[in-house]
Amino acid sequence: MTQESQLARLGLFDAKVPRYTSYPTAPHFSNELGMDRFASWIHAIKPGAEISLYLHVPFCRRLCWFCACRTQGTQSDSPVRAYIEVLKQEIALLAQHLPEGVTLSRLHWGGGTPTLLTPDLITELAEAVFAVTPMAPRGEFSVEIDPNEFDDARLDALAAAGMNRASIGVQDFDPKIQETIGRIQPFEMTRDAVEMIRARGITSLNADILFGLPHQTRARMTESVQKLLSLSPDRVALYGYAHVPWMARRQNMIPTDSLPSPQDRLRLFETAQRLFLWDGYREIGIDHFATADDGLSIAQRTGKLRRNFQGYTDDQSDVLIGLGASSISRFPQGYAQNAPSTSAYTKAIRNDTFATGRGHVFQGDDSLRGRMIEMLMCDFEIRSDEILSQFHIAPAVLTALYRDAASAFPEMLEVSPEGLRIRPEGKALTRMIARHFDAYDLSKAGHSSAI
Ligand SMILES: C[S@@+](CC[C@H](N)C(=O)[O-])C[C@H]1O[C@@H](n2cnc3c(N)ncnc32)[C@H](O)[C@@H]1O
Ligand code: SF4
Repeated sequence: MTQESQLARLGLFDAKVPRYTSYPTAPHFSNELGMDRFASWIHAIKPGAEISLYLHVPFCRRLCWFCACRTQGTQSDSPVRAYIEVLKQEIALLAQHLPEGVTLSRLHWGGGTPTLLTPDLITELAEAVFAVTPMAPRGEFSVEIDPNEFDDARLDALAAAGMNRASIGVQDFDPKIQETIGRIQPFEMTRDAVEMIRARGITSLNADILFGLPHQTRARMTESVQKLLSLSPDRVALYGYAHVPWMARRQNMIPTDSLPSPQDRLRLFETAQRLFLWDGYREIGIDHFATADDGLSIAQRTGKLRRNFQGYTDDQSDVLIGLGASSISRFPQGYAQNAPSTSAYTKAIRNDTFATGRGHVFQGDDSLRGRMIEMLMCDFEIRSDEILSQFHIAPAVLTALYRDAASAFPEMLEVSPEGLRIRPEGKALTRMIARHFDAYDLSKAGHSSAI
């Protein structure tokens, strides 16, 4: 049997599985969390701890048809200005609850398009954050950058604020694909953005590209990846295009018959993967590539790679606070999500209360299963010694869990005294294998195709 038919037999081309940036996944959050519990989790942070902070800017000037992110189009600065005022108020509210001496190991601005902020708003927002929590000595401040919504003045403001990692949205360089996905971005525009960023001494550069886009062929994928490699990013996220028009209505602009089949998606992924590996990049988890000296590669080599709502990270802090509409926070005790709509979020913050909506308190074996799933997603293995030393589970019960997974994915998994390992030929199934360790109702689990 060929490898592809083996993967087909195991359901890779039909399954819909979560991306496991959390466990349980967001559809399992309940409405009952409440802002008091969120505040109590903030109080429980150790004084002097390093934490991560995520700020969400849910606005864009252009609304790309392919995009599944929750974002609002605006040509005017006034709603953006009003939103930043509310975000600053939320930061001030956080300051009232945060223990002494907390610093930031990571600060990430995402969206939407944070680069649509005017230079004065960028400066104001950064000052508001750093007045409450300064960056830790080796902290990283990263910002999602749309090259189409970017200029010297905004970059100068970001660099002056301390941005030291840029994440650029590319998707694909092919003009026909760009036209079909409603995102025109000539190669020269991306190249210029990269040069502007490097000219400010910001050398850490991530780029997002997609496989599975309409009209994407292996030849087009090859050309786009080679163009991207000519810009030498130190990290690349190679995400599978999620076509979910029932959730992101503008994707209806993309004709379904222009989309590659699931089998072709796998070939497109493998084409890009081969090119990155040939060029000396390391493969990080299921969808990232990084140069050998990048923090993600180092974390992978040392068993410290982690996964959170922003994907893969080398950040070791166990608290990630998300501010802004729809943002999700993670604590050792559970998850808390802000109200998703900008109006509900604004109303809560203007009333001087947190905007906590849905969330989840870890219970039962959530933390155990969450860690096993994270290990699979990061390292393609579960190390028994780590699990047994951190969680109350009998060795025999753990081995029974492994054997159950191994029988569901014959020839793809290896069970040994050290633990469970996904064989190289089974790596494409990683999210499906992770789902095997998910104890929640799988019908609610998520809609993204397994490849
Ligand atoms: C929230 S967007 C912000 C990027 C920034 N606004 C820009 O346009 O460059 C972050 C990334 O999400 C990814 N993304 C958006 N929609 C997606 C989809 N339908 N499937 C897979 N990835 C998607 C894209 O790779 C995008 O660069
Ligand atoms: S890809 Fe970026 S610019 Fe385009 S709609 Fe999504 S968030 Fe906005």
